[in-house]
Amino acid sequence: MTSDLETQLQQLRQEAEAAITSSDTLGNLETLRVSYLGKKGQLSQILKGMGKLDASERPRIGGLANQVKEALQQGLEQKKSDLNQAAIAAQLAAETLDVTMPGTYVPQGHIHPLNSTIDKALDIFVGLGYTIAQGPEMETDYYNFEALNTPPDHPARDMQDTFYLPDGNLLRTHTSAVQIHYMEDHEPPIRIAAPGRCYRRDTEDATHAAVFHQIEILAVDKGLTFTDLKGTIKVFIEQMFGDVPIRFRASYFPFTEPSAEVDVQWKGRWLEVLGCGMVDPNVLKNVGYDPEVYTGFAAGFGVERFAMVLHQIDDIRRLYTSDLRFLRQF
Ligand code: DAH
Repeated sequence: MTSDLETQLQQLRQEAEAAITSSDTLGNLETLRVSYLGKKGQLSQILKGMGKLDASERPRIGGLANQVKEALQQGLEQKKSDLNQAAIAAQLAAETLDVTMPGTYVPQGHIHPLNSTIDKALDIFVGLGYTIAQGPEMETDYYNFEALNTPPDHPARDMQDTFYLPDGNLLRTHTSAVQIHYMEDHEPPIRIAAPGRCYRRDTEDATHAAVFHQIEILAVDKGLTFTDLKGTIKVFIEQMFGDVPIRFRASYFPFTEPSAEVDVQWKGRWLEVLGCGMVDPNVLKNVGYDPEVYTGFAAGFGVERFAMVLHQIDDIRRLYTSDLRFLRQF
């Protein structure tokens, strides 16, 4: 009987130790614990036989049972901590970054020189308190010409110069048309900068494109004078081109009186960069403003021209051909 229990205990120990050693998950380990050491586990089953033992044998077998129990508990603990550590090591290995690995090349985009020129100009006017405004690219004769005080026989209205649409509308030839829309919808004081695409029936060459961009400036308020116009243009040119000499030349536009063109001295030459003037009283009347109360100034310039001067671009067509070798330089 004694040796029987002893053998059983020893067998249990061997079998359990082998099972624990080969166990590879925490869940499986817990199952083993319950099966060997649990209340209804194999060790308890064996110890049930203790009652039939001779009293003199009990302490020895009891002691042996305790040894087996402790050995198994220890084995389980050890295995548990081994498995935990292996799990941490595996996680660390999986999450390790090899910072010496070469990166994936992602080509970097560039802002198109026309857009960066527009952004730069608008930033300056926003800084001066101007609001950005926009208008349609398809216009009526009224907004593009008539309301802007352009007489019916003005050369700009010629079929040779303007894209007329079959329905009698046209593609706007300048952003000045935005002035009229904005004034119709708002009361003074007004300060707007209006960027946009314009269209003219020009034959394309190094300095002409049928589609191009302008930025229009308009300020209307009580008491605005030519001095305000000059000061505004001076600040704008300075921030755009740096501290370069500028000059105002008397000129003519149907929608401004007096009118001027502005030149900047750039790399030793005078370059014409924009048109401007005091808003003609007729234009103010056309939108229902009283020219006795309000005065205004306006200016307009070509974005391509500015971009070409700023970046020394020799041909306007480079701005449209999407040649990456060209665009990557900006
Ligand atoms: N609209 C003119 C053009 O297309 C540019 C211009 C000149 C706009 C004088 C203005 C201005 O607002 O006052 O050439």
